[in-house]
Amino acid sequence: MATREIRTLGEDCLRKTCKEVKEINDRIITLVDDMFDTMYEANGVGLAAPQIGILKRIVVIDTDGTPYVLINPKILEVSGEQVGYEGCLSVPGKSGIVARPNYVKVEAMDLDGETFILEGEELLARAICHECDHLDGVMYVDKVDGDIIDNEVLAEMMAEEE
Ligand code: NI
Repeated sequence: MATREIRTLGEDCLRKTCKEVKEINDRIITLVDDMFDTMYEANGVGLAAPQIGILKRIVVIDTDGTPYVLINPKILEVSGEQVGYEGCLSVPGKSGIVARPNYVKVEAMDLDGETFILEGEELLARAICHECDHLDGVMYVDKVDGDIIDNEVLAEMMAEEE
């Protein structure tokens, strides 16, 4: 298990356009392993390579116990809308309201170099959009509607609503 340092908002690497992965080699496989380790240790549901300072088009996602690796992902189709709180490991301890499609269809390459299609709804769709944005230097804070608030404040608001 190897975790890497998660870069935070304000660091240049989070604002770059990442490069396509040309071939799957041992370095890519190790990188993906480390991305999962880093994401799980931080209790995240998604992580993009630039968040650990690697400017390659790779994201890992696990919103429901199923791990996905998307290499050179391309969003083919979106539909619907969901509006809800979203966070990012590069903006620790905070959340903001972001509108995202409720359905996303994405094409990507897996670790065997095979192209596959992934369809996601709700949280998975949100995660796919959020992580793919990272590959073009886009952060959720760019799209937020309203204030970015501390997660502790959000938890209190949620508790009051119950
Ligand atoms: Ni993020």
